[in-house]
Amino acid sequence: MKSLQQSFSVRYQYNVYFTEDLFNTNNTTLVDTLDNSIGPGKLLFVIDQGVIDHHPQLLSKIAEYQRKYAHQITLAGVPLCIPGGELCKNDYGHVETVMDAINDRGIDRHSYVAAIGGGSILDVVGFAAAISHRGIRLIRIPTTVLSQNDSGVGVKNGVNAFGKKNFIGSFAPPVAVINDKNFLHTLDIRDWRSGIAEGIKVGLIKDEAFYNFIEESVEQLNHRDMKVMDYLIYKCADLHLKHIASGDAFEMGSSRPLDFGHWSAHKLEQLTGYEIRHGEAVAIGMALDSVYSCLEDRLTKSQLMQILELMRSLEFELYHPCLGNPELIEGLREFQEHLGGQLTITLLQKIGTGIEVHHMDTQKVLKSVKLLKDFHNNKTLDL
Ligand SMILES: NC(=O)c1ccc[n+]([C@@H]2O[C@H](COP(=O)([O-])OP(=O)(O)OC[C@H]3O[C@@H](n4cnc5c(N)ncnc54)[C@H](O)[C@@H]3O)[C@@H](O)[C@H]2O)c1
Ligand SMILES: [Zn+2]
Repeated sequence: MKSLQQSFSVRYQYNVYFTEDLFNTNNTTLVDTLDNSIGPGKLLFVIDQGVIDHHPQLLSKIAEYQRKYAHQITLAGVPLCIPGGELCKNDYGHVETVMDAINDRGIDRHSYVAAIGGGSILDVVGFAAAISHRGIRLIRIPTTVLSQNDSGVGVKNGVNAFGKKNFIGSFAPPVAVINDKNFLHTLDIRDWRSGIAEGIKVGLIKDEAFYNFIEESVEQLNHRDMKVMDYLIYKCADLHLKHIASGDAFEMGSSRPLDFGHWSAHKLEQLTGYEIRHGEAVAIGMALDSVYSCLEDRLTKSQLMQILELMRSLEFELYHPCLGNPELIEGLREFQEHLGGQLTITLLQKIGTGIEVHHMDTQKVLKSVKLLKDFHNNKTLDL
């Protein structure tokens, strides 16, 4: 038998920048990220309509910015706007709209697509950029807490299909991520809060000190204190980046250790017709798996109460009637199917330490749902 062996590795490197007023003509963060070796960087902006609605001056600021830095940046026509929010991930037509623009406006692999918006738009645009010409350079400019501290800084994109979250998608690291804190002022309170759930998540599974910081900052976070949010986003993004670089960046194995609380969250998002935000679903999913961890004698009852109280003090709902839907448990199978291999779920060993398990007992899951419902109704937990 003959065989040839092929082996190589590709190194990825990108920076996540933290700035303010990105399109102020004195701010060079964006132009500094562009490769000008063969002339000005050609950029196609794709922008979340929700961002434009709240920042009506954005388009004229981009135009003025380009005029000032014309030798470093050219625009591939006017920015393309698409409606934001999870529903844009349910409509493949938006991926095609972005690809149409990439084609019509002559965007090639030396050009850039710059996506401005929440995690949903970043997922749609990131996927369209990843498959056009086999991969166009992507700059992400996340505009929500969740996209600045989690979804926008990673290497994945995805859109929904067959009633499943992120069924279609790819791994495609960006060339740069630019977090501009000024966007956060206009967020709906639900979107401000939603990203905090991902911060609690990494704290719970990886970093007790960060969890404690969130616990000590509840009042400021509820009053939309930007300084505290600044640190929360920075630290959470850092923990995500370190995790991605630490091993299985493209999730070749069976485990998704950062997806604590996500097996039921993804299912809940779908069962509620995407009425609840991703972060809101993650809060409920974490509450459920924390109760389960306690039923398995991993977490103590006092640690469990501490977690539930933290999320409640941040005004997260910790129960949704769809948790009672018998289809919920399907979420476990779908979670496993997404990666294949062995079912791998992260539970909590204690605050700050996750643990992977390969089995979840259906009766215990149902008991956890019931206990969470009681907690929601009576504010007490009778374990
Ligand atoms: N690719 C990944 O690795 C990854 C990781 C985690 C989550 N996600 C995905 O991210 C999505 C959630 O993203 P999200 O929480 O950012 O919400 P979102 O993108 O769905 O946006 C929520 C709403 O906020 C609006 N909006 C965005 N920025 C705004 C601003 N600055 N001011 C006012 N309104 C604004 C949007 O128009 C939308 O209506 C989910 O689909 C989730 O699955 C992806
Ligand atoms: Zn998430």
